[in-house]
Amino acid sequence: MFKAAVLTVSDRSFRGERPDAGGPLVVEILKNAGYAVTETAIVTDEKGRIEAALREPVDLIVTTGGTGFAPRDVTPEATLAVCDRLTPGIPEAMRYASMQVTNRAMLSRAAAGIRKGTLIVNLPGSPKAARENLEAVLPALAHGLEMLSGR
Ligand code: MTE
Repeated sequence: MFKAAVLTVSDRSFRGERPDAGGPLVVEILKNAGYAVTETAIVTDEKGRIEAALREPVDLIVTTGGTGFAPRDVTPEATLAVCDRLTPGIPEAMRYASMQVTNRAMLSRAAAGIRKGTLIVNLPGSPKAARENLEAVLPALAHGLEMLSGR
């Protein structure tokens, strides 16, 4: 069983001004797909805070939020900063699938990559978009994690 962590990136949810809907939804989808979700956290839209949270030693970290164009949206930059290798096919597949739903899918700046033994995947912030993006790539992720861990 692969270990996963879910990170919600949102100033408002961190401050308790908006309930975190995206994080729990991602947890539920991962659990249903057979992942052991061992960590969840909410951080503000600050690059340093996000980078620190992305150093959790699990097999998979899924983030939700901070991938748009708002000035404080820096989740992709934090992800790129901690990753050793990029996995561009994952966000390519997410945007390809999401473009069938809305042409605003092209506005997601989500990134994905590998930091040591951890695959990190960004999702948009809205629960609907998070679900649609995650479900587009989830069936293929286990094979990548098997290769990454040498299993
Ligand atoms: N992808 C899917 N599948 N469905 C959506 O509704 N919304 C888009 C995009 N990707 C969307 C989507 C929009 S409107 C934006 S701004 C970006 O994701 C980034 O979202 P974020 O700012 O919440 O991270």
